[in-house]
Amino acid sequence: MTSGIEGNGGTQATGKLEGKVAIVTGAGSGLGAACARGLAAQGACVAVVDINGDAAVAVAASIGDRAIGLRTDVSSEADVKAMIAAVLERFGRIDILHNNAAVLDAAQRSGDRDVCNVDVEAWDRAMAVNLRGPMLCSKHAIPAMLKVGGGSVIHASSGFGAQGDFTLSAYAASKAGLTILSKSIAAQYGKQGIRSNTIQIGLVVAENGGAHPLPDDIKAVILDGHLTPYLGEPKHIADVVCFLASDEAAFITGATLPVDGGFTSHAPTLAPMRALFAARGREAY
Ligand SMILES: NC(=O)c1ccc[n+]([C@@H]2O[C@H](COP(=O)([O-])OP(=O)(O)OC[C@H]3O[C@@H](n4cnc5c(N)ncnc54)[C@H](O)[C@@H]3O)[C@@H](O)[C@H]2O)c1
Repeated sequence: MTSGIEGNGGTQATGKLEGKVAIVTGAGSGLGAACARGLAAQGACVAVVDINGDAAVAVAASIGDRAIGLRTDVSSEADVKAMIAAVLERFGRIDILHNNAAVLDAAQRSGDRDVCNVDVEAWDRAMAVNLRGPMLCSKHAIPAMLKVGGGSVIHASSGFGAQGDFTLSAYAASKAGLTILSKSIAAQYGKQGIRSNTIQIGLVVAENGGAHPLPDDIKAVILDGHLTPYLGEPKHIADVVCFLASDEAAFITGATLPVDGGFTSHAPTLAPMRALFAARGREAY
């Protein structure tokens, strides 16, 4: 079942980000691309940043004149500095930073396992891209935000960063680190107009199923733990990013917002109890 929303593209345009300049990292594909499109649909100029430069340029081209595509490895301080300089040269200001990039490819997943079997290089790669990257982008974007009186930093975390699970130990630890990085930024620059928030994203099915689609039986288990009758779609995330980027969220900072259909909000026994009661032909005790 889907949420009944149309497609995964731009959010309903209101112009609420007109005049703002946004950076979205890891926006050459997946949720980052959807967020870049959503921010542009709300009127922002957008820097589409990705280690895959061709993908970044293609997404920017699909958005049009108000976007640029930049090849940047967010784990490299030299790359990040050059990216920030390029955004300022093109658009003259920075108001919004969405730290979305993460390393999730097949090679990374195969090395990022339970703690006794985690590959140390995969651990270091996860920390470099998923945690040092957001720190570096924040470090170099915030001074530009301060020059225009403030801004909004949004970090893409995951349920893995909040709850223990079988695998992805490095990914989980890197995402947990993002939560406190976000709070540090909120605490340190709040009085100067910077807001910083984390979105704790649940499973989101990419437009085309994604590069590594989950088998249906695993999706069914995950859906069983949702309070919504559907899994997440990229537009759900893009809508929340646009909200947090905008003045509608002017009083929200230092927050971690689950955007996961309620997956992390309930007792672990909910789904098996639901099944048990259903088998007994009743809804609850
Ligand atoms: N899709 C989900 O179900 C889900 C769930 C929870 C959290 N998230 C988080 O949302 C974000 C986006 O996820 P996604 O599913 O769209 O992932 P994705 O793998 O589709 O996209 C990640 C993008 O980051 C880019 N990237 C990787 N390393 C980079 C680097 N060093 N520098 C710059 N860019 C780099 C990749 O090229 C890719 O375009 C991630 O932070 C992820 O952890 C996703």
